[in-house]
Amino acid sequence: MKIYKVLPDLTRKRQMAIWHKALRSQWSAEDLDWGRPQRIAKDKPKDHLARLLTPILMGEQSALYSVSGLIPKLGATSEVESQFYLTTWAVDEARHTELFTRFYRRLDREPISIRRFPAGYLFQSAIVSDDAAEWLSGVLISEVLAKLVMEEFRRLDLDPLLSDIANGILEDEARHLGFNHIYLEDRFTSLFRKGRPEGQSYGEHLRARLQAVLDHVTPIFDALGEDMQEVGLDRDWLLGELDKDAKRRLEKSIAAGEKVASREVEASDPAEAAAIGRE
Ligand SMILES: [Fe+2]
Ligand SMILES: [Fe+2]
Repeated sequence: MKIYKVLPDLTRKRQMAIWHKALRSQWSAEDLDWGRPQRIAKDKPKDHLARLLTPILMGEQSALYSVSGLIPKLGATSEVESQFYLTTWAVDEARHTELFTRFYRRLDREPISIRRFPAGYLFQSAIVSDDAAEWLSGVLISEVLAKLVMEEFRRLDLDPLLSDIANGILEDEARHLGFNHIYLEDRFTSLFRKGRPEGQSYGEHLRARLQAVLDHVTPIFDALGEDMQEVGLDRDWLLGELDKDAKRRLEKSIAAGEKVASREVEASDPAEAAAIGRE
C-alpha cells in the first residue's frame, strides 16, 4: 500500500463542496415503498421494459467498477479531494445497481444476457480508462443518456417505483455531471497554462474519445428499437439530444479551462458547478 502524502491539501474548494453535498444527499433503496401495486401488469410490456433496462443495469455496474478502480489511481497524483468525491460516486452507482436489480425482481424478469447483447458490452468497454479525464469524457455519454432516459421515465410514469427510482437517480446524476465539469475544467486549466497547443491537442483527444463512445450507442438502439418504441421512447430524438448535450458539456469544460488559464475568469464557483447537472 502506498500513501503518497500524509497530510492531504484539501484545497480544491469546488471538489470539497460537491463531496459534502454528496455526503448529505445519500439515500437508500429501503426508503422506497416496494409494496405498492405494479402498474405494468401484462407480460408483453414487462418483456419490453426488461430488455430496455439491460444497458442501464449494465451501465450502473460498470460505473461502479470504473469509479472504484479510479480511487487508488488518483492517489498517485495526490488528488485526494477527487478520491473523496469518487467514494460517494461509487456509493451512488452501487445504489443504482441495487435499485434496478430489485426492479427486475418486481418485474419478475431478467436482463438480456451479454452473449445476446454484445452492443451493450462493447459500449461499456469503450468507456473504460485508467485516466480520470479520459474516463470522464467517455462516461459523459453514459451519464447524459441515463439523465435523458430517467427524465423520460418520469414523464411516462410507467410504474410508481420506476418513477421514484428515476427521481432519485436524477439527483445523483446532477452531481456526477457537476463533478465531471469541475474535474475536466481543472484539467484543461492546467494544460492551457502550459500552452495553447497542450490544451488544444488534449481537447481533440477527448473529443475523439467521446465520439468513439457515442458511435457505440447506435448499435444498442438498433438492438432495442422495438422495445424503445413499445415503451414510448423516441429513438431519433434521444440520439439527437444525447449527441448535442454530451458534446455541449465537454466543450463547456474545455472552454472554461481555457478562460481560467488566460485569467479571463475565476474558476466557476461551487454553487454553479452543482447546478450544472440540472441544465
Ligand atoms: Fe448510475
Ligand atoms: Fe451516474
